[in-house]
Amino acid sequence: MINPDRFLSDLHTLRSFGASGVGKGVIRPAFSDADIAAREWLMQQMAEAGLTVQVDPVGSVWGLAQAPSLLLGSHTDSQPEGGWLDGALGVIAALEIARSAQQDRGAPVSVVSFQDEEGRFGVTTGSTVWSGTVSLDTADHFLDREGVSFSQARQNMAHLAGDWVDPRQFTGFIEMHIEQGPWLDAAGDTIGVVTDIVGIRDMRVTLTGEQNHAGTTPMHMRKDAFQALSAFNTRLSLAFEGVVAPATVWTIGQVNLHPNASSIVPGKVTFSMQWRDSSTGRLAEMDKIIRQVAMDVAREHGMVLNFGDMLGLEPVAMDTRLRHALTEAAETNAPGQWREMPSGALHDATNVAQQMPVAMLFVPSIGGISHAFEEDTDEADLVVGLQVLADAVARLTN
Ligand code: GLV
Ligand code: MN
Ligand code: MN
Repeated sequence: MINPDRFLSDLHTLRSFGASGVGKGVIRPAFSDADIAAREWLMQQMAEAGLTVQVDPVGSVWGLAQAPSLLLGSHTDSQPEGGWLDGALGVIAALEIARSAQQDRGAPVSVVSFQDEEGRFGVTTGSTVWSGTVSLDTADHFLDREGVSFSQARQNMAHLAGDWVDPRQFTGFIEMHIEQGPWLDAAGDTIGVVTDIVGIRDMRVTLTGEQNHAGTTPMHMRKDAFQALSAFNTRLSLAFEGVVAPATVWTIGQVNLHPNASSIVPGKVTFSMQWRDSSTGRLAEMDKIIRQVAMDVAREHGMVLNFGDMLGLEPVAMDTRLRHALTEAAETNAPGQWREMPSGALHDATNVAQQMPVAMLFVPSIGGISHAFEEDTDEADLVVGLQVLADAVARLTN
């Protein structure tokens, strides 16, 4: 039998690794000391639950039941400023269900915590490499915002790392997650059954102008990198009009302005350009527009323009059979209080879908807040989510 108290207690224990900031905030980026300590704690829980523990070469932690098994899980790394549930919820729900399956001699359930879902290096890095979407060689060259490579960072877990886990032992994958958006909370619903996950494109752009004195350089002679970025941002929104859909999103979330001092005209800016949509065609159209607007702005502001490598994941539909088990379980455990919905956030399930059928369920995020210390969910909703997941697993394995 699943034990909701043990599940909530484990979630709080996991939060203690990297607990920071206001509310229930967490700072546990991939391969940080807190992340590795949390993974070691998780390995111990998996072993005590009777699972065979294996860490793969990129630091994803697996608790394997007898094959063939259903795979559940998510990730335990966090954003540079994150909440206590993003990823953690899916892993701890998986642990509780796998542990009770072992105790009750039920159908085998395996658990995974993928590494670097939050993209310190790539985009959902651990599961992209494991699924074959990105080669290890390519990923090893990815750099974080301090210039540390993925290859260097994974040395921090080299003492734990073993072989790759064979995906053929799993019959399917279900990832439970917080919604991270406003819709369930606003509607008063408890469960979201995911229909599909949007696609993403992400690249770094650099504009290089001329660093100079902020007091003596006449305005018409400046090649100011900040002014160029500012113009790019404004022009891009206008250029997207008529192309983007209501659910399309784009973000400039990380900016390195050089040298970032009040009396210096900034000579260089490197920034992240990310966009997400459910249509591959629209993602490509936006790519063209971004490059054209950047070229126009660079020319007008006397900048040298450079585009970094583009990372991307395609939109993915959830498997009908797994999804059906989730909708039946939702109607049983939260009658009239669930809905089907797309995921605007990225998840490891996107990559796992390359190897096996996948599905996802959501519980509400209070106020729609996530990727922030304030992220939270009512504990009663967490427990309903656990029950829906356990019920769906029972429907699929009995
Ligand atoms: C994953 O955390 C995402 O950025 O959607
Ligand atoms: Mn997540
Ligand atoms: Mn996240």
